[in-house]
Amino acid sequence: MASILIRKPLSTLLAEAGQTGEHSLKRVLGPVNLITLGIGAIIGAGIFVLTGTTAAQFTGPAIVYSFILAGLGCAFAGLCYAEFASLIPIAGSAYTYGYATLGELFAWIIGWDLILEYAFGAATVASGWSANVILLLQHLGIPVPPQLAATPGTDMVQYEGIWRAASTIPDTVNLAALPHVTAAFNLVAFVAICLVTTILVIGIQESANLNTVIVFVKVGTVLVFIAVAAMYVLSHPQQASANWHPFIPPNAGEFGKYGWSGIVRGAGVIFFAYIGFDAVSTAAQEAKNPKRDMPIGILGSLAICTVLYLATSFLLTGVVNYTKLNVAAPVAVGMEATGLAWGTYLVLVGSIMGLSTVMLVMLLGQSRVFYSMSRDGLLPEWAGKIHPKFRTPYISSITVGIFVAVFAAVIPIGILGELVSIGTLLAFVIVCAGVWVLRRKQPDLPRPFKTPMVPLVPILGILISLGLMAGLPIQTWLRLFVWLVIGMAIYFGYGRKHSKVALAAKGK
Ligand code: ALA
Repeated sequence: MASILIRKPLSTLLAEAGQTGEHSLKRVLGPVNLITLGIGAIIGAGIFVLTGTTAAQFTGPAIVYSFILAGLGCAFAGLCYAEFASLIPIAGSAYTYGYATLGELFAWIIGWDLILEYAFGAATVASGWSANVILLLQHLGIPVPPQLAATPGTDMVQYEGIWRAASTIPDTVNLAALPHVTAAFNLVAFVAICLVTTILVIGIQESANLNTVIVFVKVGTVLVFIAVAAMYVLSHPQQASANWHPFIPPNAGEFGKYGWSGIVRGAGVIFFAYIGFDAVSTAAQEAKNPKRDMPIGILGSLAICTVLYLATSFLLTGVVNYTKLNVAAPVAVGMEATGLAWGTYLVLVGSIMGLSTVMLVMLLGQSRVFYSMSRDGLLPEWAGKIHPKFRTPYISSITVGIFVAVFAAVIPIGILGELVSIGTLLAFVIVCAGVWVLRRKQPDLPRPFKTPMVPLVPILGILISLGLMAGLPIQTWLRLFVWLVIGMAIYFGYGRKHSKVALAAKGK
């Protein structure tokens, strides 16, 4: 029993963090790289897709309040991540923090759980990416075989000359009259993950540079939307104020559809838009000065994205009535409504580029967590192997890439998305609890960044995360449970016997 709760000594962790040389990760990332890594992972399907559907189905214009609520939960968790990432700058992120504070079993659970966030997150975003790319290709007159354009069993229909999923066609259209094909494999999503994996294997500097360039394009796209929408709202004040009234539409008779319950439900859904700031912490061993720059990267990217999200969602519901936002590309619809024809294409291209960096940073995070777990003996040694030339955990990246590419090609996006949210929220709960535990157990550690108001901030982080988890459907909880049971079987079958920390404690 004692060995499964064994903790990894902080002194060992700090020694590992200081390692250099051919077999270690390469320290090249500065504060700007880290902020752009965060933004690269954060801005994606959440703002470009979920904003519209959430406003239309749950919140109305009050989606801004949902963004504030989910953003608050993330801010509390982000402050806790920042303390840990500067104190224990190791690629394993929450997994390593769990190992140092709560013990090996918790560390394993959190490491296994992070697969839901990073690997499944990348797969979810790959599905969204492929839907946008396929739309763009068809708009440009490049045909795409519908059989290879979605996950198996998806009903594809040809509408206005373009193949798309039947579920995205407006209710007013007679579906039976359109040509139908059943999809077999999402080839575009598969190829996307393979390309991103290749970049990750080639190098961290190359990956970070590509990410930075794309982040400027996607933030630029969001800023253009904000500027155009703000001008539209200022020049059409009556239309905007009619769209914003009532700001919180009355409850429609069921929990979660408008009213305050809708805002809470909306926060649970829109939380997905914030996921990714924590991925910055997995780059801790590749940062030049992690003690100073980790908090800057985590909190800076979160703050910038929060401001962009609040402005975008507020203006979008002013330009277009929320009842018309139940569409796959709401920001593009908003652009269209302002009368800016090229703006629609800009948003489509911006969101395609934006989603590609989300995949990049999520896969980066996943391979780094596996790298750390393998270094600790909880996963086989090959997962921690560093490429002598590229200095990346290449076997881990390639293995993760193959699995994620297959997931993205065959598992429907809805199932994946909710698993990503519940997995991430569970990680937040454990990290917040970990900060509190370590403050009590080792109050005198030199902490380069201190979470303010402990234990209040960790407690609020835990409560909001649990509240958002509670709003997710029971099936998602069941899937989480099954996932954790599988993880337990692997831990007791392999990890426990090979744990280097436990073996060292026994003197082996
Ligand atoms: N936050 C990321 C997105 O919205 C996962 O795509």
